[in-house]
Amino acid sequence: MQGRFITFEGIDGAGKSTQIEVIHQAIKARGIEVVRTREPGGTPLSEKIRELLLTESMQPETETLLFFASRAEHIARVIRPAMARGAWVLSDRFTDATYAYQVGGRGFSAEKVEALEEWTHGGFQPDLTVLFDIEPQVAAERLAKARQLDRFEKESLDFFTRVREAYLTRARQYPERFLIINSMRDKDVVSDELRRIFATWG
Ligand code: TYD
Repeated sequence: MQGRFITFEGIDGAGKSTQIEVIHQAIKARGIEVVRTREPGGTPLSEKIRELLLTESMQPETETLLFFASRAEHIARVIRPAMARGAWVLSDRFTDATYAYQVGGRGFSAEKVEALEEWTHGGFQPDLTVLFDIEPQVAAERLAKARQLDRFEKESLDFFTRVREAYLTRARQYPERFLIINSMRDKDVVSDELRRIFATWG
């Protein structure tokens, strides 16, 4: 028995959390066990690392290493065991976020991230990555209304433009696993589309 690993990506303010809940319910309704998790985070230790990442300023090297440290725990303790018992794992972000934010956003070396990826999870990749795509300006307006911003969410529109572009480049590189969702539409329209897709996907 082997589960599925589905990841969710997009710039902050793309409406990811709302739609992950919709997808969770759609899969659960099929009688499948769903494990919902997130990065950075997902285990007690990884949640401590998350707290550091979202609040402390640090070198780009430190930041990237902490994302992978958190990820190594998450894969070993949550993702692989759940998949081994046949559950479907839904993760709010994974390694594509490091390519988008640290490489695209901050300009950190792609080669170094590739080496860390290889070291941390070799050939292990999501079965599906849902990318919520939105213009940074629209996302920023949504975020400003919604909540207190963390260290990443306070970045500039230029930063998020680079992050978005990096995500779209990843999607073009790996078209077989990426599903791009236009998140500039009304959220109920997006939810309906996702319910239709996940009634049968996988
Ligand atoms: P996010 O899921 O957006 O948290 P929340 O919705 O609760 O605010 O993730 C937190 C931030 O971490 C987000 O701004 C993106 C950033 N991030 C990276 O920069 N690199 C990574 O590898 C990951 C997983 C996240």
